[in-house]
Amino acid sequence: MRTQVGIIGAGPAGLLLSHLLHLRGISSVVLERRSRDYVERRVRAGVLEQGTVDTLIEAGVGERMLREGLPHHGIELRYGGAGHRIAFEKLVPGRAITVYGQQEVVKDLIAARLAAGGDVRFEVENVAVHGLEPDPGSGPYLTFGDGERLDCDVIAGCDGFHGVSRPSIPEGVLTVFEKEYPFAWLGILADVAPSSEELIYARTDRGFALHSMRSPTVSRFYLQVPADTRVEDWPDERVWDELRARLESVPGFTLATGRITEKGVTPMRSFVVEPMQYGRLYLAGDAAHIVPPTGAKGLNLAVADVRVLTEALAAYFAGGSTELLDGYSAACLRRVWRAQHFSWWMTTLLHTFEDEDAYGRRLQLSYLDYVTSSEAAATTLAENYVGLPFPDDS
Ligand code: FAD
Ligand code: DHB
Repeated sequence: MRTQVGIIGAGPAGLLLSHLLHLRGISSVVLERRSRDYVERRVRAGVLEQGTVDTLIEAGVGERMLREGLPHHGIELRYGGAGHRIAFEKLVPGRAITVYGQQEVVKDLIAARLAAGGDVRFEVENVAVHGLEPDPGSGPYLTFGDGERLDCDVIAGCDGFHGVSRPSIPEGVLTVFEKEYPFAWLGILADVAPSSEELIYARTDRGFALHSMRSPTVSRFYLQVPADTRVEDWPDERVWDELRARLESVPGFTLATGRITEKGVTPMRSFVVEPMQYGRLYLAGDAAHIVPPTGAKGLNLAVADVRVLTEALAAYFAGGSTELLDGYSAACLRRVWRAQHFSWWMTTLLHTFEDEDAYGRRLQLSYLDYVTSSEAAATTLAENYVGLPFPDDS
């Protein structure tokens, strides 16, 4: 079997890449380890940057997002007994975010690929990468299942942080940059109308809490928890007590509660490999970099990588030029590092650190006061949060 681009992973990166390539007349096969049902139900991110929204609309997969997604023009930073709004419409006019679950994006992309006759295979075991070393006799290829083989011109490693593509690059090629945080997030999904119209990022002495949402009847919450937390440690009553303790910190705000339908623990990590490519293997999304979720950047970065890779592959297949492919990693890493810094900064600003001394805590509160009182500082937060324009935006 042969295709132009062999894609490992049917997350947002792999599916969007396959769809964008299809729009350019380039063939691909997507190999995914999990079932379709599993990837469509996996609850993860929810904040789409303006550029992500625009990309999905331009690609013809934005119809349901435009109907059901919730556009937001601001967020609240809550600390010290008061809420402070970061007003996107004033600070970054014309740019906003849309709250739309990652699994909804994934469902829309799978539907679009299948409707166009795309080759997306689920429950594929034993995917392995071969032929990365330059060899005039053979190009890159993938093996999977019981010895099936997929020959391709190029392989896209879109298989997330725990995938097989990054480890298949020989030792010594990649430089790893990484930072672990001494806490995790407990994510909660509940059948209850949001208690706030906009997202609330709350810093408290008990730890960070985030109030988000998925629809007018479904709320999404996150709690900073110790890194070794198990979901079993958090029965529903404890979750609501803690959310109330962290969010009901301003006069007149009451948290509505409801049936909890999902709970999961997300570790917090910053991670980048350089370069994001080796031979004819190109890494995109979480396969190449991870951010702590505080800045809501993971999914959006995956989309940005895929845009760059699509342009490079289109140039390559149109005329054989490898110039853009060769510069793929460098082109992505500028945005990757901006998002790394922003995510680290938001995390540092809003979480409690066990080893933090009184001095560090004062600095944190001072910066929060600065961000919520200076238009320059608030603009820095806002322009990063809604997402910086793509270099190819006119
Ligand atoms: P993924 O979505 O991870 O997709 C990779 C795909 O590859 C998966 O479907 C996987 O099953 C498949 N795969 C893996 N290994 C193989 C293999 N060997 N063979 C074939 N297929 C394979 N970001 C936020 O902004 N906010 C959040 O709240 C948030 N929460 C998160 C919670 C969790 C538990 C995780 C893991 C991530 C979270 N993120 C969040 C980050 C965001 O979801 C990711 O950045 C985004 O999913 C990246 O998309 P991707 O396509 O690169 O990778
Ligand atoms: C959501 C996730 C985030 O990481 C974030 O910063 C804001 C919202 C969410 O899942 O809704």
